[in-house]
Amino acid sequence: MCGIVGYIGKREAFPILIGGLKKLEYRGYDSAGVALLNDRNLNVYKEKGKVATLEASCAGKDLAGGLGIAHTRWATHGEPNSVNAHPHVSQSGRLAMVHNGIIENFGTLREQLQQKGYEFKSETDTEVLVQLIEFALTTTDDVKEAVVRALNKVIGAYAIALIDREHPERLIVARKSSPLVVGVGENEGEFFVGSDASPIVEFTKKMVYLEDEQVAVLQPGKSPEIYSLQNQSVDYDIKEVDLDISMLTKGGFPHFMIKEIYDQPQCLRDCMRGRVFVDNDNMSNNFIQLSAIRDYKNRLLKARRMIIVACGTSWHAGLIGKQLIEQMCRIPVEVAYASEFRYSNPVIEPGDVVIAISQSGETADTLAAIQLARENGALIFGVVNAVGSSIARASDTGIYIHVGPEIGVASTKAFTGQVCVLTMLALQLGHELGSLADNEYHYTIGKLAEIPELMEEMLKSKMDDQIKRMALTFTYVRNFLYLGRGYNYPVALEGALKLKEISYIHAEGYPAAEMKHGPIALIDSDMPTIFIATHHQLYQKIISNMKEVKARNGKILAIVTRGDKEVKAIADNIIEIPPTLNTLVPLLTVIPLQLLSYHVAVARNLNVDMPRNLAKSVTVE
Ligand code: AGP
Repeated sequence: MCGIVGYIGKREAFPILIGGLKKLEYRGYDSAGVALLNDRNLNVYKEKGKVATLEASCAGKDLAGGLGIAHTRWATHGEPNSVNAHPHVSQSGRLAMVHNGIIENFGTLREQLQQKGYEFKSETDTEVLVQLIEFALTTTDDVKEAVVRALNKVIGAYAIALIDREHPERLIVARKSSPLVVGVGENEGEFFVGSDASPIVEFTKKMVYLEDEQVAVLQPGKSPEIYSLQNQSVDYDIKEVDLDISMLTKGGFPHFMIKEIYDQPQCLRDCMRGRVFVDNDNMSNNFIQLSAIRDYKNRLLKARRMIIVACGTSWHAGLIGKQLIEQMCRIPVEVAYASEFRYSNPVIEPGDVVIAISQSGETADTLAAIQLARENGALIFGVVNAVGSSIARASDTGIYIHVGPEIGVASTKAFTGQVCVLTMLALQLGHELGSLADNEYHYTIGKLAEIPELMEEMLKSKMDDQIKRMALTFTYVRNFLYLGRGYNYPVALEGALKLKEISYIHAEGYPAAEMKHGPIALIDSDMPTIFIATHHQLYQKIISNMKEVKARNGKILAIVTRGDKEVKAIADNIIEIPPTLNTLVPLLTVIPLQLLSYHVAVARNLNVDMPRNLAKSVTVE
């Protein structure tokens, strides 16, 4: 995790760096810091806590300089305090560096450097790396070469940005397994650096995505020079990145999370644009067109098995993807936590397709899982949001979910985008395989295209107010149980995760019928149970589960299909959603659960967008 920003050029670096850190704060907010170089005068300011604290503490200080680096931290080595905050400065005071990643062999390197007389102020692995670069400068005058030599000694992951007092005309960056983007200013007169494109895009759309084990030297007035860790110059592409800046603001909402919940109808339209085609006059003309399938059709259609790898919310979307693909394509699908998969010596065969689902495209476990799958001959299919991210680039093919940057740490619009993409994928594959009947294919497409409108209808109704009121009654509840079946079981897991993440209330998701095998022992009048009980073939069975809860004095909140009477007669509270197909229902049932977690967190006066201990992009194991 952690976010890094850098700038070199004619403007003042400080406002660019602070603005950039604010956009990257979703990557961590344990501490923040900035280093500015003005000629050979180096100023470093660091504070525990958020970027706003750093900004306030910098008032009145010397902030001049057209070269700077900055960092927002999610602590890995050493507690979150101002000493462990980045940038870290080398022993002589010559180098300053920010780092995202983990240097796994930092203990050994630190001991070796200590034996050579280096002293350390912090507990971080980053300080070890900057000292190692300084040590390499005892054997070469060239800073870039010193960086290359030091990085060759390092085991682990890094994205770094380094400034050198002896060379105020250049900024050096490098990466391995942690993301890093270079923005190229007009006429190469200035350069911007970011962990992703969000801090850069307002200045330039021209970007270079650094590959693993590359070092770049950025010098205004010259083209970027990029080198391998063998110190060889390498070619690179400058890409035009199109990012809607309005997606990076709250747009009048109090938090990014609630904005992103409300963004979902438009996000799904964007996700389906150019992919889902509907003829309102003749349903049989409905079709789905995914270029990712066209290019790898044979391998996808011949897949004997699919394995979905993902983490967290993306894993929940994967559980829905499994049901969709198995039902529509009759291909067996396994869903694995990427973190377990990579160490499980999994059976992967050349005919397998591994689907990696990731919002950020940078989750270290998911990235490692697909690297392993690739080595074993599987086709890698990415379902990713962040364009140009590591997982997107490490995939053979895939489908971007195109829901725009997700800033709230609790994932909302990415989940519905992922489910939408998996639905399109299952529909097109099922149709091409002939395992999905023509009329079901055409009809489901029509219904899928209606989902944004149904979401809008829900969000414009009184549902949000109703949930807000309910949330007040749940503010002091300590445990929740979320139950669902079939397509709504992963939604139950997702609802529980959302509540845990931002409200810090313990919540568990279960398949409803599993309740009687254990969790029923927890039921009493203090623990609410949330049932997702929309109309489907197991509806009557869910009603029996509800009665079991009521018989034990449990309180029930149920998400039901509009017009439902049976559940209404049993539950204490109901939230109605518009009717849709069972295969599409997670796209709607998840919305009230997102809103519930949001309003409970607000009622508890918690920081919704930056919940404690979490980071948006988990680039460490
Ligand atoms: C979701 O609300 C979480 N913040 C988290 O579980 C997240 O989904 C997980 O870390 C995976 O991230 P990714 O989709 O970016 O790979």
